[in-house]
Amino acid sequence: MGKTRQLVRDFHKRSIVLSDREIDAAFGLGIATVEEKLDFLDLVLHYGQHRLYQGDMNYHVIRELYTRLEAFEKSSRFHISHILDLGSGYGRLGLYGTMLWQNVHFYGIEMVLERVLEAQKASNILGLDSVEFVSGDAAQAPWPFTNCFIIMNSFFPEVLEKILSRLESLSKSQDFAIVSVWSSNDYIYQQQWLQEAVIPGFLNEKLSIKIFQTFK
Ligand SMILES: C[S@@+](CC[C@H](N)C(=O)[O-])C[C@H]1O[C@@H](n2cnc3c(N)ncnc32)[C@H](O)[C@@H]1O
Repeated sequence: MGKTRQLVRDFHKRSIVLSDREIDAAFGLGIATVEEKLDFLDLVLHYGQHRLYQGDMNYHVIRELYTRLEAFEKSSRFHISHILDLGSGYGRLGLYGTMLWQNVHFYGIEMVLERVLEAQKASNILGLDSVEFVSGDAAQAPWPFTNCFIIMNSFFPEVLEKILSRLESLSKSQDFAIVSVWSSNDYIYQQQWLQEAVIPGFLNEKLSIKIFQTFK
């Protein structure tokens, strides 16, 4: 695991250039092999109308996400201890995060069982005990305690509405941050109970990674 941790940290600091394929290989993720065996229509018949295409976030976006979270933590003084990735795919975001942040607990909920099994396999081989991946509908499955939710374009609008309504209820009893990207941002902007975190040094372009917070 030490070698993988170092590799990810070097990539994160931009001291080495790596392709997604190289980072997946370091994690032991065989994404193409699993995807080859999946049939999109079968997935829809099995799981119903959800945004089930693979669409994994590339590691440059993941690096940007963690860079922003680091800046957010510094400027807001909000300490992130638990991260929940809703629609976690092959777990790239959680696996990358555990390599950077050893004291944070990561949890991913992904609907497609085969993707979860591959993420679990990678995490077991690396011997990680601060990351967990489970299979389920992120809108309905139980959520463990979390103070940072990740919503990376994984949901159809009607599913996102359910998730946001659940988050609004939760906001009455605890503070948290939400990281979102692209089209999810438009829906999240409409939530009066959330406000966008202004992070010094980052451009405020509309379609990029955004961090929202429940607190002032
Ligand atoms: C666009 S991919 C993003 C994957 C991952 N977040 C990443 O960026 O690497 C969307 C993922 O969300 C999953 N998904 C879609 N609807 C879901 C739901 N209701 N609950 C859990 N996972 C869901 C899909 O199966 C797919 O793997």
